[in-house]
Amino acid sequence: MRVLSVPAGILRSMESLPIGVFDSGLGGLTVAGETMRQLPEESVVYFGDTARCPYGPRNLSEVRRFVLEIGSWLSERPVKLIVIACNTATAAGLSLAQRAFDVPVIGVVEPGARAAVHATLNRKVGVIGTVGTVQSGAYSNAARALDAGVTVFSAATPKFVDVVEAGLRMGPGALEEWIAEFSEVFVRPSFYQIARDYLDPLKRSGIDTLVLGCTHFPLLSTSIQQVVGSRVTLISSAQETAVEVAETLHRKGQLAPSGSVPTYHFATTGDPGEFVRLGSRVLRHGIDSAERVSLEQLIGLPSQHLLELLNQPAEENICD
Ligand code: DGL
Repeated sequence: MRVLSVPAGILRSMESLPIGVFDSGLGGLTVAGETMRQLPEESVVYFGDTARCPYGPRNLSEVRRFVLEIGSWLSERPVKLIVIACNTATAAGLSLAQRAFDVPVIGVVEPGARAAVHATLNRKVGVIGTVGTVQSGAYSNAARALDAGVTVFSAATPKFVDVVEAGLRMGPGALEEWIAEFSEVFVRPSFYQIARDYLDPLKRSGIDTLVLGCTHFPLLSTSIQQVVGSRVTLISSAQETAVEVAETLHRKGQLAPSGSVPTYHFATTGDPGEFVRLGSRVLRHGIDSAERVSLEQLIGLPSQHLLELLNQPAEENICD
């Protein structure tokens, strides 16, 4: 076996690099926020592809291309680890990204599935997510790989993404301002009927655990809990994903040096002003500014070598 020795200087500088986190928009800030909370000395670069949100209804091969584009942008910063903080993009392109980039890439599906398998007592687990995530079968495959006796009941709940997006953009009325003090999103009463239509079949199947398989959904967790009832445990992959980030960096000896003062950088393909305003609410932490990255700039980033990976058979979780 040939052992390559990496100069100590390079290893040291690797430790100080930020963690790259990306999502189709703002939802992945729930994962970034948890990472910042668990790893307060780590710097983070967050990329929200707001101009192309939502990813959920798109063809998975289109989303795979987006994964290469954003991964290339983060690699140029550079970053020491990439978190795909979007379930749809994880389902479409996690193993592609792991082959494409030189740094560890962590998705949100496996950590969420693991937390659900640990939490369930009756081994009946519900999953809600976008059409892309649910149709990929990614959660069923991940849960079954951990415990073949677990039954997964999935439902696509695409309107929940719209509810979060609309709730974040709520108007400046007095009621909304008051609610904004307590919650990131304003949920209209009509949400509950939509939620019951989606969730009642899952409840009837006897689940005791429900995975919020979309990074937008933790922002609706209070309302979703009301609909499914207190006996159902809600799982958000944010916390488990942050644990996996910490463990991976620890194993590789790449945690930020003790006493590091973190920096946070935000970028969006959408309107930076809106990203700052809405993102601060999701993160519950003021965002000072956001860099605007144009789609033209992004589309040109992946090298020919990376684009050729798109032609290879997908090894991702495709529904069986
Ligand atoms: N945040 C995305 C996810 O976790 C959902 C939003 C979208 O459809 O882009 O799947």
